[in-house]
Amino acid sequence: MSSSINKKTIEKKLKKHYEKLSKSHLSDFFNDDKNRGKGFSVELSNLFIDFSKNHITKETLTLLSEYAETLDIKSSIDAMFSGKKINTTEERAALHPALRSKSEKIKGAEDGKIREKIENELQKIKNFTSLVHDKKITGWTNKPIDTFVNIGIGGSDLGPKMVVNALNQYRKNKTHSFFISNIDFEQIELLKRKINPETTLFIISSKSFTTIETITNANTIKSWLIESGCDDADRHFAIVTANREAAKEFGVKNENIFQIWDWVGGRFSLWSAVGLSISLAIGFDNFKKMLSGAYEMDEHFLKQPLEKNIPITLALIDFWYICFHNRKTHAIIPYDESLRYLPSYLSQLFMESNGKSTDLYGEKINYDTGAIIWGEVGTNSQHSIGQLLHQGKHVVPIDFLAPLSKKGNQKHHELLLANCFAQSRTLMLGDNNENSHLQFDGNKPSTTILYNELNPKTLGSLLAMYEHRVFAQGLLLEINSFDQYGIELGKKMALEISENLQQKEININIDSSTKNLMAIYKKSKKNSKN
Ligand code: F6P
Repeated sequence: MSSSINKKTIEKKLKKHYEKLSKSHLSDFFNDDKNRGKGFSVELSNLFIDFSKNHITKETLTLLSEYAETLDIKSSIDAMFSGKKINTTEERAALHPALRSKSEKIKGAEDGKIREKIENELQKIKNFTSLVHDKKITGWTNKPIDTFVNIGIGGSDLGPKMVVNALNQYRKNKTHSFFISNIDFEQIELLKRKINPETTLFIISSKSFTTIETITNANTIKSWLIESGCDDADRHFAIVTANREAAKEFGVKNENIFQIWDWVGGRFSLWSAVGLSISLAIGFDNFKKMLSGAYEMDEHFLKQPLEKNIPITLALIDFWYICFHNRKTHAIIPYDESLRYLPSYLSQLFMESNGKSTDLYGEKINYDTGAIIWGEVGTNSQHSIGQLLHQGKHVVPIDFLAPLSKKGNQKHHELLLANCFAQSRTLMLGDNNENSHLQFDGNKPSTTILYNELNPKTLGSLLAMYEHRVFAQGLLLEINSFDQYGIELGKKMALEISENLQQKEININIDSSTKNLMAIYKKSKKNSKN
């Protein structure tokens, strides 16, 4: 960490405070303060967040805020919103909040024309969505389009997939959405059984338009269309990219190319034209509501002081667990089937952003950075991972999420909520049974996030809250949350191995384990041919 006397002093205070606090059980905090539940809760934009079941006191939050002040994280947040190149390694801005901003003042990229460019692109998404929903866009046999297949990976897949599934009840007309990401051909095989190519629009979503999985899948789909008798493949594709030239080369109508910009990181891109799959599924009006929910959270994050700032408070608690409690993982458990893809979306958001070992100043880091993010929907989680969470030796801080209301069967809903509340309570409290196998130590921390109903606006606020929490966590850990060099080495090696798998001999200087694995494959390929 960078040297600052002030920072070192507060670090020492935090360490001392940690030692004192680690002697307390979470239940002690509740016994000492009967109003702790309310005192450690906040509400904003239809979100109600209870962080009382965490290993913190008011003093912890004060000390952590003082620590954040020594790093001047508020200035970094201002820098993000004003379009400074805070992604220093790639020399780019991280201006995803601009995509949902209502402020006329937003600038900082695109030669001051950023507002205009974003509005133009939104208008394009709106028009295209209307044309599809009004059945004015048809396939090669002139049948209207009723099926959307997003072809992308990472940020060009996980965000839209999670949102489309979360808001499925808002789906317009009788349409269907699918997501293809994996290079494993099985995914396409299964898709082919479910869709009619004549009425399907494929949305190729790739900022770079060089991602091998996406481009290979897109070409395979194009060949399948042609094999199926399609004589006008262009009308079955829309492309979302920052690489217009490559998109044109693939073959698509000019008006079906949608733009994203270099200042939008992949994992923060669902608010851009990468959200085309969202707009097609739930309608542009609902997509806009999502943007406005996110904008509300942006304003809160930008303007509220540290002690009242929700994403910052959650990031301070994360930092407390990572750097002082030595907690290596963090679980996301939504008691909401609609949010079943939230854990994998958040895994990318947190881990690609904060899984770093070099700090902002280019120095190797000797402390822990972003935790491993994982999870499962409740109540399924209780019957699979629950054992370890309750009685295992790892302490895993958890985010529980649940809707206060849901259309449908009230009995189911109340049981769902009861289970959610029971989990956080028993994890916190434990049970001192005489039988050691039935003993629960408790003292396991969690945060509970409730919302009135999962609608587009609330989801927008919730996702923006997580985005800002990730950024604030990165600032506290003194890392750049916006690059992802960690994925490059494996990609490069996969290409070299792939070339060698196609050749007769293995002409690559490689370790004996990988060489052996390649040889086993080659042998099995040869055997299957015979
Ligand atoms: O997984 C690495 C990554 O670069 C992500 O950051 C990104 O979301 C994904 O690949 C897809 O990239 P692209 O949109 O350029 O195809």
